[in-house]
Amino acid sequence: MSGILDAEQDESRDGAAPRRQGEGKSTFEIVAREDFSDVTYLLEISHPAMAKAAKPGQFVIAIPHEHGERIPLTIADFDRSKGTITLVIQAVGKTTKEIQRNFSVGSALFGVVGPMGTPSDIGAVGEGGKVICVGGGLGVAPVFPQARGFKENGAYVIGVVGFRSESLVFWKDKFESVCDEFIICSDDGSIGMKGLVTAGIEAAIEKHGEIDEVVAIGPPIMMKACAETTRGHAIKTTVSLNPVMIDGTGMCGGCRVKIGDRMKFACVDGPDFDAHAVDFDDLMNRLHRFAEEEKLAVEKWSETCRAGS
Ligand SMILES: Cc1cc2nc3c(=O)[nH]c(=O)nc-3n(C[C@H](O)[C@H](O)[C@H](O)COP(=O)(O)OP(=O)(O)OC[C@H]3O[C@@H](n4cnc5c(N)ncnc54)[C@H](O)[C@@H]3O)c2cc1C
Ligand code: FES
Repeated sequence: MSGILDAEQDESRDGAAPRRQGEGKSTFEIVAREDFSDVTYLLEISHPAMAKAAKPGQFVIAIPHEHGERIPLTIADFDRSKGTITLVIQAVGKTTKEIQRNFSVGSALFGVVGPMGTPSDIGAVGEGGKVICVGGGLGVAPVFPQARGFKENGAYVIGVVGFRSESLVFWKDKFESVCDEFIICSDDGSIGMKGLVTAGIEAAIEKHGEIDEVVAIGPPIMMKACAETTRGHAIKTTVSLNPVMIDGTGMCGGCRVKIGDRMKFACVDGPDFDAHAVDFDDLMNRLHRFAEEEKLAVEKWSETCRAGS
């Protein structure tokens, strides 16, 4: 871990009213917000040191407020000249819904720690090499910096993105701008090719033959399907795993993943791994370990919101 900045130390303010969520002198100010749908939103955060240090494939641990939960989020974009990083978040549970509801431009997160994780091996596909970058749903955001990195390195980049339907599409133009070819798929056929991203991968392989690498990011079930699609073609395939993470530093063991016959910690050994060696069924089982607690946390938080409004 190259943790360059830690959570803000909340100085005691004798006699002062407690800070509201997101209020304070934190450096992690939200400078832009965009809502892509009811559940997906983007936060651009001022963080010059992180913007300077971030590399494709890395993530941060975000802490919304002093008593908030720590959650891992991929650095979906970074702008070194503006000194900002971008997070794209899906509101799935208590903390991601809390951030969606309570944080807007001008407010600030309590802590943003990182950059964490081993950067993606962008140099693996050299100049003139061909790579397919696949994003499923929210996965479009974390695979974007990798696609841009490959392109900057001189690789021929084929983008394959998939959404359930057109209304959920985001970053189409942005993603397309770093690709030599771009295929968009939708489950219902409302935009692009009707079908899953695996159909887009098959189409690209059929057209090009020689592909040096496929990078796929999205829900585990989608990454598993991508791995099965490329296995038969013997194409090197990399996925970014998202097990439950707690400290993000290799200390707690919470993010254990099975890679071949070895146990790895996704936060320090990954999150990128060889897709053909990942035990996806184990990953999916472990992701649901705390389902009951997570449900209760949302219910309790929703009650607090209702009481407060
Ligand atoms: C390396 C990495 C990068 C990620 N990048 C993004 C991203 O860019 N955008 C995004 O929206 N989500 C991302 N996630 C997932 C995100 O961390 C979880 O959605 C979030 O922690 C859920 O918290 P919650 O309180 O809102 O929901 P909860 O109700 O607590 O959990 C909902 C589901 O999210 C997962 N989850 C819960 N807690 C954690 C945790 N501490 N670590 C990982 N997963 C957890 C579990 O599958 C759980 O069933 C990433 C996860 C990892 C490991
Ligand atoms: S999150 Fe604790 S070891 Fe990876």
